[in-house]
Amino acid sequence: MKVIASISEMTRFSEAIRKKDQSIAFVPTMGFLHAGHLALMTKAKECADHLVVSIFVNPAQFGPNEDFSTYPRALEKDLEKCREIGASAIFTPSDDQMYPSGYETYVTLERLPFHLCGLSRPDFFRGVATVVTKLFNIVRPHTAVFGEKDFQQLTVIRRLVKDLNLDIDIVGVPIVREPDGLAMSSRNKYLSETQRPHALLLHRCLEAAENSVKQGETDPGNILAQATDILAAGPEDMRVDYLSVCDPDTLEAVAVIQEKTLMAMAVWLGKTRLIDNRLLVP
Ligand code: PAF
Repeated sequence: MKVIASISEMTRFSEAIRKKDQSIAFVPTMGFLHAGHLALMTKAKECADHLVVSIFVNPAQFGPNEDFSTYPRALEKDLEKCREIGASAIFTPSDDQMYPSGYETYVTLERLPFHLCGLSRPDFFRGVATVVTKLFNIVRPHTAVFGEKDFQQLTVIRRLVKDLNLDIDIVGVPIVREPDGLAMSSRNKYLSETQRPHALLLHRCLEAAENSVKQGETDPGNILAQATDILAAGPEDMRVDYLSVCDPDTLEAVAVIQEKTLMAMAVWLGKTRLIDNRLLVP
């Protein structure tokens, strides 16, 4: 497995694979890899001859008061996990290489970022769309794999690949959960022992919503009220960022649940922001 820090070397590596008519599947990450990332890598390996993983904590997707400097990092352990899974190369560029002095070009979308996570994280999707476009240009993958946990991110990437005519297949992988239902996330590390059980309330809201819809509930208002009741059992420092029942393609709120609908949520537990989602199928 090659560990590549330079942009030009990464591109040369990919070009050499492409020249041999072999394919590349790419998993972009910010490191601190957990079972959710491993599921993405396993899927990616099924899709192509070579797996390339990037580990880059992207400063452009963090707001001024967010956790860029404290975001968990564990490069050596991450490399070990990638080696075990059989990755061909790991790309670990520096901030300066990705955003050299004078950098001023960003990728923005007109509508998708103005829903869900984008409402409280106004620069997040500009940062994600920019870094992912840059990584696609550097790594030149045939396929790229993203988790459905960041459903809005996946929707944004699918849109930008289509809109910018990028010849890359985007594959989504279902959320990987802890045995008790908590969606895996690098940020779960921030949860204290006392907070950890309360984090399960998100999963409970989604389960309740799924059951209600299966039993014939079609009113998003009732689904949201049910979730609000469930979250009311949480501690004082639990605060809803958003709860939404929306169209999975446009992310716009729906008036009636009559076909596959996304329930998405973000909840603060102290200083940790947790997200989760589920597709509700009537
Ligand atoms: O999902 C993530 O870890 C990041 O948003 C991504 C896609 C690696 C871009 O920095």
